[in-house]
Amino acid sequence: MFITFEGLDGSGKTTQLKHLAAALEADGHRVVTLRQPGGTPLGDRIRAVLLDSRSEAEVGTIAPEAEMALMFADRAQSLHQVILPALAQGALVLCDRYTDSSEAYQGAGRGLGSEHILGLHRIVCNNVQPDLTILLLPPLESSLHRARRRNQRHVQQAGTDENRFEREGESFYRRVYEQYRAIAQRDQNRVVVFADEAPIATIARSILEVVRERLAANAANARAPELQKPAGL
Ligand code: TMP
Repeated sequence: MFITFEGLDGSGKTTQLKHLAAALEADGHRVVTLRQPGGTPLGDRIRAVLLDSRSEAEVGTIAPEAEMALMFADRAQSLHQVILPALAQGALVLCDRYTDSSEAYQGAGRGLGSEHILGLHRIVCNNVQPDLTILLLPPLESSLHRARRRNQRHVQQAGTDENRFEREGESFYRRVYEQYRAIAQRDQNRVVVFADEAPIATIARSILEVVRERLAANAANARAPELQKPAGL
């Protein structure tokens, strides 16, 4: 099963992904976690260029189309190097962001449009879709507040920042937020939304419940053809 986590910067998705990974491992599953951009050696380089706000001093202004293409280059690499091999070996793959992020940030935030993103996804990612997407969508203001605090800590501790996106104003994030809502509305079977600001442990329990139900349903579906076989076959 391929599960993605989505949401605005500071929505708490990375924390929730870690909680879920630990709980599923405790249930006896083999779990592979990764993030996008990143998660492979090539992806880590792409991440550094795309997210560090100082990179434009070296490479010049990054065009929205270049940003979109680099996000997909990263994604193709992580599909081939990590995600598809792990799925083939029966692992559960938990990925921090995937193509919904490109649709929300590049498609809506940068205004490139969903069609471009979904078209690239078909070409570059062979249209590989997650089985389940956990979308954390607390109110916009609280996500932004948390993201800014986290970035300040990162600069103090590591000396680098990851805030090229955080320079964007509130209208950019409002578009991202609204696009996430539209994706959830469109893909209701795939996307499960958590919009309250409940404590971390409460949300973690709800996410685990959703995932366990899906895993049980998948297992039942996998057994169903066996049960339907006529006697003697
Ligand atoms: P994060 O690792 O803290 O979630 O940050 C990744 C940043 O990259 C975040 O600001 C969203 C952005 N991003 C895109 O704009 N498009 C994408 O396709 C992906 C995967 C991330």
